[in-house]
Amino acid sequence: MDVSRNLKNALACLSYAKTYRSKERTIVSKFVYGEMFVGEIELSKIAVIGAGLMGTGIAQVVAGAGYPVHVQDISIDVLDRSKNKIDHQLKKLVNKQKLSEKDAKEVMDRIAFTVALRAAVEDADFIIEAVPEVLELKKKVFSEMEGIATSSAIFASNTSEHSIASIADATSRKERVIGTHWFFPPQIMKLIEVVVSPTTSQDTLETTIAFCKKLGKETVICKDAQGFITSRAISAMIAECLRIYQEGIASVEDIDKAMRLGFNHPIGPFQLTDMSGVDVVYHSLESLTKVYGDRFKPSEAMSELIKSKNFGQKTGKGFYDYRSR
Ligand SMILES: NC(=O)c1ccc[n+]([C@@H]2O[C@H](COP(=O)([O-])OP(=O)(O)OC[C@H]3O[C@@H](n4cnc5c(N)ncnc54)[C@H](O)[C@@H]3O)[C@@H](O)[C@H]2O)c1
Repeated sequence: MDVSRNLKNALACLSYAKTYRSKERTIVSKFVYGEMFVGEIELSKIAVIGAGLMGTGIAQVVAGAGYPVHVQDISIDVLDRSKNKIDHQLKKLVNKQKLSEKDAKEVMDRIAFTVALRAAVEDADFIIEAVPEVLELKKKVFSEMEGIATSSAIFASNTSEHSIASIADATSRKERVIGTHWFFPPQIMKLIEVVVSPTTSQDTLETTIAFCKKLGKETVICKDAQGFITSRAISAMIAECLRIYQEGIASVEDIDKAMRLGFNHPIGPFQLTDMSGVDVVYHSLESLTKVYGDRFKPSEAMSELIKSKNFGQKTGKGFYDYRSR
């Protein structure tokens, strides 16, 4: 038995169970004794909604774990880019001899790309939404899916900070709505932060945790509070580093270098912002400001990048310029 994993899961679960006392005994004992990791997971088809930065990587991970996956987006161009990107990533793995050509082809063959929401979700058992971080848009997508998906399908949002309960309100299956917060790049990052709202059922939680494990990921469980664990913590650091830059205390490059070499962070906060999308981080800071106050307020330098639509790596320029690289 993996004691440290079970202990970590049990601790996460204890805090969850504090709030949802009626479920405490079952959930905690299941985590402690590892029961939930035994047995078959009855998920046969997965859908990913939104084929951007995250949706593309998530689809690759899901297909790589053996699941057929339908990827849906409103833009054919985006879908083409998504397909090419996955193909490129798989070829890189083949070249590095981490994947055989046959396996790479099989992964690609398991992924279908479509602009039709119906085709993507009508027979999906687990649907991962990865559309832009706009609450009303996410609610609209969930409401549309409600009219198409089977009643047993689980709806999981990849939101980095919005309330899962608010998103679930757009459906009549609140007990089957959950947060699965992935990290960029999904193919590399080990963690999925699983977010439970007060209406998320134990069955949904268990199926989700078991599914994440099948994908080779680690999970933490978090209550449905703005920013969860990770977005709130990382945003606090980014907001402070933005202030250090805004006050003229140090350059973007030196702040990044300080965080990398002083704290062993793999990349600095400005590099991370450019990689995640300046727009994505900006909206996250704004939402956190509304709930927790000005300590999360985005700085002027960041607002300027938003105004000039310099969103980081995806547009070629953000805090750094990638066009000549
Ligand atoms: N970028 C990150 O590092 C990161 C990390 C963790 C979580 N997230 C979260 O993942 C979600 C997606 O982020 P992203 O960075 O992939 O964004 P993105 O802008 O790269 O991709 C979003 C995609 O959704 C598509 N889309 C828009 N409206 C749609 C609709 N109605 N139906 C289907 N598709 C639609 C867009 O065409 C786009 O391709 C957000 O909630 C974000 O907060 C992002």
